[in-house]
Amino acid sequence: MAGGTASSHDAEKIALLEQQLRQAQKLTAMGELVSTTTHEFNNVLTTIINYAKLGLRQRDEPTRTKALEKILAAGQRAARITTGILGFARNRSAGQEPTDLARIVEDTLVLVERDFVKYRIALDKQLASVPPALANGNQIQQVLLNLLINARQAMPSGGQIVIKLSHDAAQNLVDLMVRDTGCGIPADKLPRIFDRFFSTKSGPDESGQGGSGLGLALCKDVMEAHGGRIRVESTPGKGTSFTLRLPAASVPAPVILTTAPIAAPAVPASSG
Ligand SMILES: Nc1ncnc2c1ncn2[C@@H]1O[C@H](COP(=O)(O)OP(=O)(O)OP(=O)(O)O)[C@@H](O)[C@H]1O
Ligand SMILES: [Mg+2]
Repeated sequence: MAGGTASSHDAEKIALLEQQLRQAQKLTAMGELVSTTTHEFNNVLTTIINYAKLGLRQRDEPTRTKALEKILAAGQRAARITTGILGFARNRSAGQEPTDLARIVEDTLVLVERDFVKYRIALDKQLASVPPALANGNQIQQVLLNLLINARQAMPSGGQIVIKLSHDAAQNLVDLMVRDTGCGIPADKLPRIFDRFFSTKSGPDESGQGGSGLGLALCKDVMEAHGGRIRVESTPGKGTSFTLRLPAASVPAPVILTTAPIAAPAVPASSG
């Protein structure tokens, strides 16, 4: 039937367009990161240069040791920044694998902490020890970055962000929550926030971030591709929380011996 052919053709076109949009969104987010990172690297370099000068000027042992320690710390910080950026830029692996979400959180925070200081945002990390999630770390980092930038933009004059990691043992799911004390989302807008191009922002802010209305659409796509979910709760004037639910990576089941007679002395389990 002609109609059937046309609609499957349309579906293909839409899928292709959506793929291109995702790519474009990623490039935009990377462009935003470049400006943040450049500043951050400048700060690190300033630290290194100043302590190197100090070490050359003051020749006593304790001062030189202190200068070298500061240089080492700054170098390590620079390395953390590049690791975060590279993880974001490179498709480390297209597939899903057991992923330590606490590490993803730390890698992502490195990219935004400078803006958090600038906008007076206090961070409360509640990272319980949880099993690894079955996820593409690269994509989850992108989702988290979108949520953190949105939260920051909802609090132009400061506030608090809570990042909480927890494990729902009954359902074997890992939850990652990002909660802010920002402006909140009115009930009539809430159903539309995951729509492509829905944005209440007039354009990029002074940090060059926000306004395309693609961030949350991407988050939803990524979570669906993971067989996971993204949930939102918001109270206008009080704040908003987004929760990502991901399947925990299955761990090998413990071997339980059930065939031995109850009264028999314990013997090591054997499959032969
Ligand atoms: N934490 C939040 N607090 C308040 N409103 C929010 C929050 N997160 C999202 N929103 C609302 O949802 C809308 C859509 O968010 P989304 O991230 O998809 O697009 P955006 O931030 O406007 O643009 P971008 O594509 O650059 O991210 C926002 O414009 C804002 O109105
Ligand atoms: Mg956004």
